[in-house]
Amino acid sequence: MILNYDSVIIGSGLAGLSTALRLANNKKKVALLTKQKLNECNSYYAQGGIAAVIDSNDSTQSHIDDTLIAGAGLCNEEAVQYIVQHSPEAIKWLVSQGVQFTPDTDNQTGFHLTREGGHSFRRILHVADSTGSAIIDTLIRKVKSHPYITVYEGFVAVDLILGNKIGVNNKKCYGVYALNRNTNQIYSFGGKSTVLASGGSGKVYLYTTNPDVATGDGIAMAYRAGCRVANMEFIQFHPTCLYHPHAKSFLISEAVRGEGGILKLPTGYRFMQNHDERMELAPRDITARAIDFEMKKHGFDFVHLDISYKPESFIKEHFPNILQTCKGLGIDITNEPIPVVPAAHYTCGGIVTNLAGETDINSLYAIGECAYTGLHGANRLASNSLLECLVIGENAANSILNLTIDPVTIPEWDASQVTDNDEQIIISHNWDELRRAMWDYVGIVRTNKRLERAMHRINMLQAEIHDYYSNFKLSADLIELRNLLLNAELIVKSAISRHESRGLHFSKDYPNTDTIAKDTILQI
Ligand code: FAD
Ligand code: SIN
Repeated sequence: MILNYDSVIIGSGLAGLSTALRLANNKKKVALLTKQKLNECNSYYAQGGIAAVIDSNDSTQSHIDDTLIAGAGLCNEEAVQYIVQHSPEAIKWLVSQGVQFTPDTDNQTGFHLTREGGHSFRRILHVADSTGSAIIDTLIRKVKSHPYITVYEGFVAVDLILGNKIGVNNKKCYGVYALNRNTNQIYSFGGKSTVLASGGSGKVYLYTTNPDVATGDGIAMAYRAGCRVANMEFIQFHPTCLYHPHAKSFLISEAVRGEGGILKLPTGYRFMQNHDERMELAPRDITARAIDFEMKKHGFDFVHLDISYKPESFIKEHFPNILQTCKGLGIDITNEPIPVVPAAHYTCGGIVTNLAGETDINSLYAIGECAYTGLHGANRLASNSLLECLVIGENAANSILNLTIDPVTIPEWDASQVTDNDEQIIISHNWDELRRAMWDYVGIVRTNKRLERAMHRINMLQAEIHDYYSNFKLSADLIELRNLLLNAELIVKSAISRHESRGLHFSKDYPNTDTIAKDTILQI
């Protein structure tokens, strides 16, 4: 099946939805592909909120400085300045779409502004502790009723369609092949532009705050197509994921610490003063490392985050979702501390783009968590990522509107050489093995030996899956595992090549930070 559109967007998180709406409002025909349901994405689970300078007591420079400090010398300053300067417009756009941020009549902005680690000012707009779902539900309503957008739920993008597929030797993208997971048929989506808004690769780790869709597919597709991929060693571990046998990936927002939550050992001892003068409000890399250190030193499986000393009414008003979810698991956060552990949370590296989301390949864009603009450097400042999706999404849409492209005929996917997959167990076994190896060997604290071990495992798994991929019909699991393996390879290769510790990358073999900060760039 071949379908042609002005733009093919892969991903229905904030990056994909906002870009789709901006293009469609300019009468561009958009195909919006998403692996599962429209709302299944990292954006939907965002809790803390979106950072923006809208309070006249705050300043753009302060937000820029906080971002640069968190980024540990590796941010692209131009990207930081540009994105932060455009934060008020991003908020206005969301409000114009119908997002209702939590109000505060006592604040001159009219909004309640919360605080998170690394921010020297209250500047996070939020919708209680369910900011992501409030934003995504609002935009999904718009997308579903838009006459210029066709939504393809349950479509898994497999690989980009490049010039070589249509018999021309150029660096241009003509669309994407995607698997319809209901029929197992591969479709060819032709696009005058193709947008990767496919999110990060949190699922490469055993424990993550990310939903199942976060398998780094866009990063893998772009890398295979010849794009540069930068700084993949910088995986952000969120310090406080709920520790409970029946809770899958539930985050306890950093806003809990922003509003006074205290980290303690299970013995009741407060420990952050031993790690950073900003205590619980230190940036994430420092806080996650401190928790990891304390857990390993004392042999605890978790630490405690305590907000129970605050009035019940305050907790109910600010953290209703966390309160409810914990209650459902038997934890009353108004009376007792919450058991928490660090978990993989955000992919700071990604496909290299400029501020218009343009990649190394013509007509191919990357926006949001799959991209690397330089905003986050070696460690993302909390609540800067939703902002990046919106600001770069707008620029990408403007760039796409100016493209002039002649229509071409794109080919069907060739499945003539493959047969039905005989042993599903190989995929599930290899998936588990990869995620455990990454957790054990490529976690918060790294060593050369562990990284080399991880690389060895990854290479073996890749050889098996390559064989499988070449001989059997595609399935969503196989596509994802192949991509996760490539993301793992990029993470480990980047980590091995960095002979220093910086931001989120901490190596026991190279504990010092070089005076000059350099990006890690990988290209096929
Ligand atoms: P996503 O929202 O992850 O969307 C990716 C989309 O691509 C999904 O729809 C997925 O199904 C689709 N997709 C992927 N691969 C394919 C494929 N092969 N084919 C078809 N579709 C595909 N950031 C903040 O700024 N503030 C916060 O408060 C905040 N809280 C967070 C809380 C949690 C629990 C998590 C996990 C993250 C949080 N973040 C937060 C980070 C932020 O949510 C993400 O960085 C951001 O939402 C990324 O948006 P995105 O559109 O790039 O990707
Ligand atoms: C959180 O609410 O702690 C997540 C914020 C973020 O990842 O930016």
